Amino acid sequence: MKIMVVGGGGREHAIIKSLRKNPEITEIFALPGNGGMAEDAVVTGIGAKDIEAQVKFALENKIDYAVIAQDDPLALGAVDALKAVGIPAFGPDAKAAEIESSKVFSKNLMKKYGIPTAEYEIFDNASDALEYVKTCKIPIVVKADGLALGKGVTVAMTREEAIEAVKFAMEDKVFGASGERIVIEEYLEGPEVSVLSFSDGVTLKPMVSSMDHKRAHDNDEGPNTGGMGTIAPNPYYTEEIAEECMRTIFMPTVEAMQKEGRPFKGCLYFGLMLTKDGPKVIEYNCRFGDPETQVVLPLLKSDLYTIMKATTDGTLDKTEVEFADGAACCVVMASDGYPVEYKKGFEITIGENVKDSVFVAGAKLEDGRLLTNGGRVLGVTAVEDNLKAAIDKAYENVKEVSFENAYFRKDIGKRALKALEG
Ligand code: AMP
Ligand code: GLY
Repeated sequence: MKIMVVGGGGREHAIIKSLRKNPEITEIFALPGNGGMAEDAVVTGIGAKDIEAQVKFALENKIDYAVIAQDDPLALGAVDALKAVGIPAFGPDAKAAEIESSKVFSKNLMKKYGIPTAEYEIFDNASDALEYVKTCKIPIVVKADGLALGKGVTVAMTREEAIEAVKFAMEDKVFGASGERIVIEEYLEGPEVSVLSFSDGVTLKPMVSSMDHKRAHDNDEGPNTGGMGTIAPNPYYTEEIAEECMRTIFMPTVEAMQKEGRPFKGCLYFGLMLTKDGPKVIEYNCRFGDPETQVVLPLLKSDLYTIMKATTDGTLDKTEVEFADGAACCVVMASDGYPVEYKKGFEITIGENVKDSVFVAGAKLEDGRLLTNGGRVLGVTAVEDNLKAAIDKAYENVKEVSFENAYFRKDIGKRALKALEG
């Protein structure tokens, strides 16, 4: 069986490594992929946003199943385009992907169906938005409507910051069309939890919970990044809270999407804040998280391909989705200076004994040498019986990987451990 995976980061590498466990899968192609995946997949270099080229590739290579892992191709209708030529694909169609690609859509959906989230206002012109932030309660959160490479959200702790954020999106148009409309919403407080789930449009099966570490530096300081590390499961996410989320957030979302004529198939990602008034949705993503996937999939006991195919076929209710009891930790090794400014082109060495647990993101192969080629270079994961052991092992594994200018946080999982120890 031949599979293609659309995307090119650490998340895609983790997906590819999981898919490879299925003996029926004989070939995996990555579009574009990156040089660090070359031992696990055929790296094609075909752009993740080039839907036409993807369809052509799939037909020419007689692909049996496609996995669309990245947000932009989903929003651009990659799943629709492949389906139109008879190739089944994992992920939502463009209409359902709007749950991530338009914050206005997702906020209105939650309001209409009574799904708990922050109070909000929508603006489509700068003067009204500026008028509003001059008098609103502070802190406040300003969000660009569309996809903005994870940079469209400003948590403004002062009124000046809020005004800046509105001007940035609506006057300077830094996010292009994505910032033509903005959502200004209530500031929520509490521990954050990421819950990825599989859905076939009717049934939803959550994966093990996780915790991202978004800030660049230790103690959650420094600028926001794509994610500097993750742990799973998230100790704040108790069985009681999981049950509440299933009842008040997860199933209502699946049902709301059905009622809107946009049944969601694929991986639905819930970014949650556990506030004192209960769990609330901060954001939906229509895909696996990065670097959440790098801790969630290594804990998956069931076969990933079987589950993915079940979401496409609508048979998830009859499909087993089981996770191991242990814990996982992923430490992201980045280029020093990320996310602002950094150098690339340094040779990466990865110890043979840790290769299986390294997920490569920003790297390229040149004359047989693997070189750094991005901000987040790779993630090093460890799975152990408990969180403490997983964290220790992940940092031990980090010592087996080296490249010049490497930077990583030293405190991934520290807050989670503290919560566990009460
Ligand atoms: P995003 O870039 O969409 O992943 O969001 C970045 C971060 O902004 C989230 O992980 C939260 O920490 C924070 N955030 C988003 N919305 C809110 C909110 N309403 N209240 C407080 N923090 C928020
Ligand atoms: N780690 C957050 C995300 O994938 O959006």
